[in-house]
Amino acid sequence: MDTEQQVFSVIKDRRSIRKYKPDPVPQEKIELLIEAARWAPSGENAQPWRFVIIKDRNKIRSIGKIAGTADRRQFSAEFAAGETEERLKKIKDPKKRQKIMEKLTAGYVSSFLENAPLIIIVCGRKDVWDLPYDCSAAIENILIMAAAAGLGTCWVESPVMDVRDEEKIKEMLRIPRNYKVLTAISVGVPDESPKPRPRLPLEDLVFYESFGRKEKDE
Ligand SMILES: Cc1cc2nc3c(=O)[nH]c(=O)nc-3n(C[C@H](O)[C@H](O)[C@H](O)COP(=O)(O)O)c2cc1C
Repeated sequence: MDTEQQVFSVIKDRRSIRKYKPDPVPQEKIELLIEAARWAPSGENAQPWRFVIIKDRNKIRSIGKIAGTADRRQFSAEFAAGETEERLKKIKDPKKRQKIMEKLTAGYVSSFLENAPLIIIVCGRKDVWDLPYDCSAAIENILIMAAAAGLGTCWVESPVMDVRDEEKIKEMLRIPRNYKVLTAISVGVPDESPKPRPRLPLEDLVFYESFGRKEKDE
């Protein structure tokens, strides 16, 4: 396979992994992931990102609990506002719908973090304009590098979606006030091979010369 195909196959075959084998992530692999992040582009080359590596089980459990509670809060609010039906309207089987609804409102989406062997907390300098874009580029590099290295990851916003949860995490990890916590990334050896989530077709996403125009003029 040439480089182009290799890169594309890593991008395409990456999945969000939420179930891991108990094996620890070797230090050299952790450093490989952070090296990949370090080479991400950033506005004005500001490199506002910082990475806190969490291996301590108590801290991982706490982050997982915060994530589960946040999901429960969000999905219960959606349910109360009648928005869950809309979200699940494509699922025709009522039993399957009920099961997903229960899973969402019980907060069992992101609480899997509790069992991750490793979490990378991505935070960054608040005074940098492009902070979310810069950090997202670094995060994606981590996910892709991990997939190439045979590791599974999941980008998990739940523990920091609410500023009160973010404060708890900042306190636990002694992250300074002038830093924002962008996300948690779980990392480990995959213990599941999920099917790809559906993607919108290319022709619905790309236009030529003006929005909505599909002619390629070749
Ligand atoms: C910005 C962002 C936030 C996400 N937050 C969560 C989350 O809080 N919990 C979770 O389980 N997955 C989360 N994910 C993972 C997505 O659910 C996942 O990427 C998406 O369903 C597509 O599946 P795939 O990554 O396997 O292709 C997040 C992904 C992104 C990019």
